[in-house]
Amino acid sequence: MTEPAAVEPDRARPRVDAFRAPKGTRDLLPPVSARHRRLVARFAELAGQAGYGEVVVPMFEELGVFSRLGEATDVVTKEMYDFVDKGGRRMALRPEQTASVVRAFVEHRPSTPWKAWYAGPNFRYERPQKGRHRQFDQVGIEVLGVDDPHADVEVVALAWRFLVAMGLRRVTLKLNSLGDAGDRARYSELLRAHFEAVAGELSPAARETLERNPLRVLDSKRPEDAAAIAAAPSILDSISAAAAAHLDEVRAGLDALAIPYALEPRLVRGLDYYRRTTFEFAGDALDGAQDALGGGGRYDGLVEALGGPATPGIGFALGVERILLAVEAEDAAADPVPAVAAFVVDTTGGREATVLCDALREAGIGADRAWDGRSLKAQMKAAGQSGATVAVIVGERELADGTAIVRDLRASEQAAVPRGDVIDHVRKLVSPT
Ligand code: HAM
Repeated sequence: MTEPAAVEPDRARPRVDAFRAPKGTRDLLPPVSARHRRLVARFAELAGQAGYGEVVVPMFEELGVFSRLGEATDVVTKEMYDFVDKGGRRMALRPEQTASVVRAFVEHRPSTPWKAWYAGPNFRYERPQKGRHRQFDQVGIEVLGVDDPHADVEVVALAWRFLVAMGLRRVTLKLNSLGDAGDRARYSELLRAHFEAVAGELSPAARETLERNPLRVLDSKRPEDAAAIAAAPSILDSISAAAAAHLDEVRAGLDALAIPYALEPRLVRGLDYYRRTTFEFAGDALDGAQDALGGGGRYDGLVEALGGPATPGIGFALGVERILLAVEAEDAAADPVPAVAAFVVDTTGGREATVLCDALREAGIGADRAWDGRSLKAQMKAAGQSGATVAVIVGERELADGTAIVRDLRASEQAAVPRGDVIDHVRKLVSPT
């Protein structure tokens, strides 16, 4: 007798290759997603305490909003996710949020000082590597309408205090001033002359950058360019007396707060809107190429460039992924917070777990359970893995008695408790004070 042909449904159907997250993006799964959320919550708390209100701007804007970041910056020329929408408009996914916040300021004209904080994803078509993604998250603040150098100090200090609150200790604050608009242009020409004189020693990439924007050559991390960069004139010799006095006041403010910084005359930042104060935080536990935890500065001409009245502005953005990498590298992670306080184990079919979980959650106690009628042993194992400190156990006997066993998983002690007292009993164990 011949065997009937085996039906192999997987072969009969056309194969579909499994999809993956787009290059440069990541799915955030627990526990990483929880770390992101906690980071943003902590930032919101600190910003709120300092008088900042949350601003949520769209994830895409008209392309022109972002062109103001600088026609000669990589962010605009090479990395923009721009597209034409179905209405024929040229749009772009936001590569950062300062330009959008300023666009919102110009559109809504809130009274100044306007102190805004934000959090959310940004998009840059970069070459992905550790700590560099095509979709990445930032938290940041912007202050509009204040010239006062003490606002610069408040902004820098908020970022510093936040990084410290995240447990980071190995952070270097780099501080510089790019002077006023005229200073910057003058310095740019000095730099051009300097680099053109030694162009033969520069890397081809730096020579190309030099044509577009001499300031950006200072960003080069290539060893061939190091000597020419070290010999370059300092911007601090080119800035106006007013900009120099502003920088002195910022430095005095940071000293008064005992926030350490390194003066870095070669810090130019990757966006073109900066004037006067600029700063960056380097994570010293991270790889050199991706060690910028965040940065910011003044952008006193940006509001006008986006069609608003002359208004000074200053802010920063910090990279969420970079901070979490630094926290990991410094081993500074706070103890993981258990997702739930109680785990309900039900060996009577599952309905008791449904009722108890609902009652615990209604009482404000985080609770979880197992599914599909698993064995007592499997459910106790799941309770252990959940991170819960208490297990509430119901078997046939407890169901008949109208009780439940409440087990302290840390102390391995347990007691049979009348069903009506379970919530109070669990509450005492999970918050003993
Ligand atoms: P930015 O220096 O371009 O500044 O970005 C700030 C931070 O975002 C960086 O230091 C880094 O931590 C993170 N970041 C940037 N690109 C990526 C990427 N591809 N993958 C992962 N993280 C990244 C700004 O965005 C300005 N808007 C800051 C600012 C606010 N200036 C004034 N106000």
